[in-house]
Amino acid sequence: MFGDNASAAPAAWAEIQARTAALGFDMPSEANTGALLRLLAASKPGGRMLELGTGTGLATAWLLAGLDASASLVSVDVDPVVQDVARAHLKDERLRFVLADGLDFIRERSPASFDLIFADAWPGKYEALDETLALLKRGGLYVIDDMLPQPNWPEGHPARVDDLVARLESRPDLVVARLTWASGLIVAARR
Ligand SMILES: C[S@@+](CC[C@H](N)C(=O)[O-])C[C@H]1O[C@@H](n2cnc3c(N)ncnc32)[C@H](O)[C@@H]1O
Repeated sequence: MFGDNASAAPAAWAEIQARTAALGFDMPSEANTGALLRLLAASKPGGRMLELGTGTGLATAWLLAGLDASASLVSVDVDPVVQDVARAHLKDERLRFVLADGLDFIRERSPASFDLIFADAWPGKYEALDETLALLKRGGLYVIDDMLPQPNWPEGHPARVDDLVARLESRPDLVVARLTWASGLIVAARR
């Protein structure tokens, strides 16, 4: 089906998907989100990419597949059980996993450190948004998913999502696009 990118997934993705299902991990990123992340990562040759919320490494696999030889990716998660799945399946010298609270990680980085940030945990999205956006270089891309209503949204979440979108769109230093793609994405570029 046109619009379905799963058949073009990196080899590790299918293996990780099987482990993800066995683990009962219920917050996986969709294949179409991954396909867009791979594309965006490939648009940043030599770039430094950051993923907040490794999970089991589904999106990590796509991001990794988009890196050129000189680019790099750091992926952060606070949960060793899920991140260990990613560590087992994604071994690459350009990729570094960090087991840490995302909030601490964000606050310990220098401004303008990254060319692309996929913020897929509360830190970087619903917490420390301004600090996270400050980590983007000029021209850097900020990507978030799950902007369309999801079955696992907690009570009161729609208002939080609306507030996040409003905050992003009110920033003069960002160019923001809302995408009805996968679980609903926002892609923003820092001017
Ligand atoms: C939506 S899932 C990530 C999905 C993943 N990107 C994928 O491709 O499937 C969110 C992840 O954020 C992690 N997380 C939750 N709180 C966190 C925190 N304070 N710091 C870092 N990671 C956190 C969870 O352990 C979970 O793996």
